[in-house]
Amino acid sequence: MPNRTDQPEPEDRANTLWGGRFSGGPAAIMRRINASIAVDKRLYAEDIAGSLAHCAMLVARGIIPPEDGAAIARGLEQIRGEIESGAFRFSAANEDIHLNIEARLAELIGPAAGRLHTARSRNDQVATDFRLWVRGAIDRIDAALCDVQAALIGQAEAHADTVMPGFTHLQIAQPVTLGHHLLAYVEMLGRDRSRFADCRRRLNECPLGAAALAGTAFPIDRDMTAQALGFERPAANSLDAVSDRDFAIEFLAAAALAGTHLSRFAEEIVLWTSDAFGFVRLSDAFTTGSSMMPQKRNPDAAELVRAKTGRLTGALVALLTVMKGLPLAYQKDMQEDKPPVFEAADALELSLAATAGVVRDMRPDRARLAAAAARGYSTATDLADWLVRVAGVPFRQAHHMTGEIVKRAEATGCALAELPLAELQAIAPAITSDVYEALIVERSIAGRTSFGGTAPSRVREAAAAARRRFLA
Ligand code: ARG
Repeated sequence: MPNRTDQPEPEDRANTLWGGRFSGGPAAIMRRINASIAVDKRLYAEDIAGSLAHCAMLVARGIIPPEDGAAIARGLEQIRGEIESGAFRFSAANEDIHLNIEARLAELIGPAAGRLHTARSRNDQVATDFRLWVRGAIDRIDAALCDVQAALIGQAEAHADTVMPGFTHLQIAQPVTLGHHLLAYVEMLGRDRSRFADCRRRLNECPLGAAALAGTAFPIDRDMTAQALGFERPAANSLDAVSDRDFAIEFLAAAALAGTHLSRFAEEIVLWTSDAFGFVRLSDAFTTGSSMMPQKRNPDAAELVRAKTGRLTGALVALLTVMKGLPLAYQKDMQEDKPPVFEAADALELSLAATAGVVRDMRPDRARLAAAAARGYSTATDLADWLVRVAGVPFRQAHHMTGEIVKRAEATGCALAELPLAELQAIAPAITSDVYEALIVERSIAGRTSFGGTAPSRVREAAAAARRRFLA
């Protein structure tokens, strides 16, 4: 028989932690919509750290007796142990991680537990816990981004002179080196890291002591708790401290963008490992087979990294939408801040680890890359440039003549370098036999020595610089 969800469950009493003015318990459905413990139990370590800091400050300021402070600290350490060993029994009746821990503390140490919440509210408590959690996630993600960069730089060094076609519009445009291509992602991930670092700097202010919204009449020391928790300073405004979630939104924005970068790379891996391209091979470790088509090697890891971006962008939009109409200060809506942040952090961490694995695993096929680099009249720009540099032809005119030469080659079904000199001269009289040098892919690449360019010498320099900038 289905439960009636509009009535209190028989065993429900008013909540012992906030139920003074309540005589009945919540309806079952009220409890279900209200409880966040299934999600926010992930904040247990931060919650305990915040409580320990708060408790030490209350003792230091003479707000609670030292014996009670010591009992609270011991109890909190025991709870940490219970949670980490799996012995702790989380209860939905106690709503969230804060009340679960406080209820257990009361079981363990008795009435002294009731002093911990002096000069504190769950509002400043959760804001503090969540900032600590996001800060930890940023540190893990930074390390993971750095690891992907290390993998990319390693491959870039190994392939500083491996030629491949560079594309625009997914049409072969000009030859580049694979090392150069991979270092492009190193730059993107470097900017992602700086966005996370920026977010970390801004979020690193301590809400604790803002209490419910207005501050407190107890003589607390906000600098002390801020310092104990590794925050730069206490948050300046108590209303803002309990109701700001832009740190979480910034985190999600940085995550969505990092995910977008990973997704672009993943898309390239999918293309490159396809039969049509055949640029790169992945080992059995990063591919899967098909249950029907025995010949298949599917780049599932890359496909899933590409797809996880949907969650990241979705999480950003979800939290922006939760926050957009909220008046000051805390509103229960804000409890919905955690699922998107946890989901995004998990998805991004998994994607980063998978991407690092794929990068280290990939084996580029130099021969196929070189053959593709020579296709598509990829050195046509070099021919036009030659006309400008050697024969003094204005670039627009050189571009036009080269276009005609490409048309001629296309009609004959040959490469540019296979056209006889007389045919080239019929279109561009200034051409001499020296031009053939310029049409060689390796020559084209070696010549692109402008700063940030694709010449192997530049790529080696850039990889060394990337090591210093990002991996030091
Ligand atoms: N579980 C709540 C959250 O995550 C904690 C804060 C509750 N505050 C309150 N006044 N009911 O937002």
